[in-house]
Amino acid sequence: MLGKIFVEKANFPGQGEMLIFTAFQDTLKKDVFFKQLDLKTKGKLTKKIKLHDFKAKEGEMLTWEIDDFYKTIVMVGAGNSKDFNLAKWKNLLAGAFRAASSLKHKSATICYFDVLGKDYFEIGKKLTVSFHLSNYSFDFFKSKPDLKKQDRLAELKFLLYSPLSDKQAELEKGIELGGIISKGIYLTRNLVNQPASHLNPMTMQETALMIEKESKGKIKTEVFNETECKKLGMGAFLGVSQGSDTKPKFIILKTNNSRAKTKICLIGKSVTFDSGGLSLKPADYMDTMKMDMAGGAVVLGVFQILSQINEFNQDLQVFGLLPACENMPSGAALKPGDIVRALNGKTIEVLNTDAEGRLTLADALSYAEKYIKADYMIDVATLTGACAVALGLDIAGVFSNDEKFKKIFEKTATAAGEEFWPLPLYKPYKKRLKSNIADLKNIGGSRYGGAISAALFLAEFVNKSKWIHIDIAGPAFNTEEQHGVIPKGATGWGVETMFGILTEISPKN
Ligand code: BES
Ligand code: MN
Ligand code: ZN
Repeated sequence: MLGKIFVEKANFPGQGEMLIFTAFQDTLKKDVFFKQLDLKTKGKLTKKIKLHDFKAKEGEMLTWEIDDFYKTIVMVGAGNSKDFNLAKWKNLLAGAFRAASSLKHKSATICYFDVLGKDYFEIGKKLTVSFHLSNYSFDFFKSKPDLKKQDRLAELKFLLYSPLSDKQAELEKGIELGGIISKGIYLTRNLVNQPASHLNPMTMQETALMIEKESKGKIKTEVFNETECKKLGMGAFLGVSQGSDTKPKFIILKTNNSRAKTKICLIGKSVTFDSGGLSLKPADYMDTMKMDMAGGAVVLGVFQILSQINEFNQDLQVFGLLPACENMPSGAALKPGDIVRALNGKTIEVLNTDAEGRLTLADALSYAEKYIKADYMIDVATLTGACAVALGLDIAGVFSNDEKFKKIFEKTATAAGEEFWPLPLYKPYKKRLKSNIADLKNIGGSRYGGAISAALFLAEFVNKSKWIHIDIAGPAFNTEEQHGVIPKGATGWGVETMFGILTEISPKN
């Protein structure tokens, strides 16, 4: 982990390299801290704000290299205080943290305001996640990193003035968990950013084993190889994998509290490269397909967090399933028109080998139903281009067969600041998946509503479980500009939400 965050009891404004001030459009001029700061600068701050027409609108930022008690003061516009929440703050602060690094400041200072609310734990957590995520870069393959280590923002001080000194412990707990969550997201991003020839089913297995080892007995892993998958009847998953020279791995992680009342299963699409198979993708659709294991990387990120925390809900056992394989064309590959049989016995006519994610997930969902008997299942998958077309790169599509479970998801994702939008499991489209010669076919046969066809296909492999399907084809990987805590490339979308759900779910819900 890069930087360090700590609470410092001191009076505002203090001194240092960079002061980050969250400014609200409606209250700025009345703010006691603002007034104090303005006084300290002998009114120059007010002038500066006027000069630059800074209104503290959401997303607006003013950087002032004052070179005095601080070298730089950054005013972060946060809009109207009534519309403010900590999820927004996470993204707003990212701009200031990045500015600090590009000004080669190693230390930044931030202070508490009433507008942030009274949930000091959450404040500490959000601040920390924002700090680490905006400091992320993927330098494994660069001879010279874009930003030298010694120029990076390395510490953040949270100024806590004396009336709030009894809140320090709560803040520090939040900071600690925020660090652990960030580490999980770093793992996810690093896995997704790695090219497919470096990251394959074998490396995903190694990552799971590393998490097991670091968990000191809290997490167990089990991996099925090709032969074992065959014995279990995972014909759909193995069908996808059969064209590749790299062997498939069906990876299972679980927490060690097997007597827990409730079981939840996190399933991540783990196609380490999706060429489309014989239904080959065009070159410009294939160039990002190393990211087709992002769902599995999210699950590994969550388990990495679980491996590091001390307190854990003993009534909830958490499982992670990663059907990891490559989708490649070859003489051995699945041919369009072939029929495979999934673990639950259903036969599938594979009319397009590029609709492979749903095949791998069919067996994982069936496994969770049959062998784990999961009360809850969440699958995260870069499943359809159609979902990205519908919602763009910021927003995940969410489907569910259970309203109450979906509500928990929505609450958690909103608090995490991970954008999503509900999509329907619209029954009349089910007939699209009828095959003439098998139980199902793997494509809907229409260009329209592709994300829904895929979700309805998955639903064929869900029986009793309360289930959520998250299509992250858009938000898993950012091919546009960086924004908020989201960098270019892998984003880690979903780690915070999925982890949050584990603490939200109360057994026997
Ligand atoms: N992995 C892709 C979906 C995808 C596309 C993810 C773009 C991220 C960005 C998936 O396996 C796929 O190829 N889906 C097809 C389904 C079609 C053949 C029914 C698609 O979306 O085109
Ligand atoms: Mn595909
Ligand atoms: Zn795919």
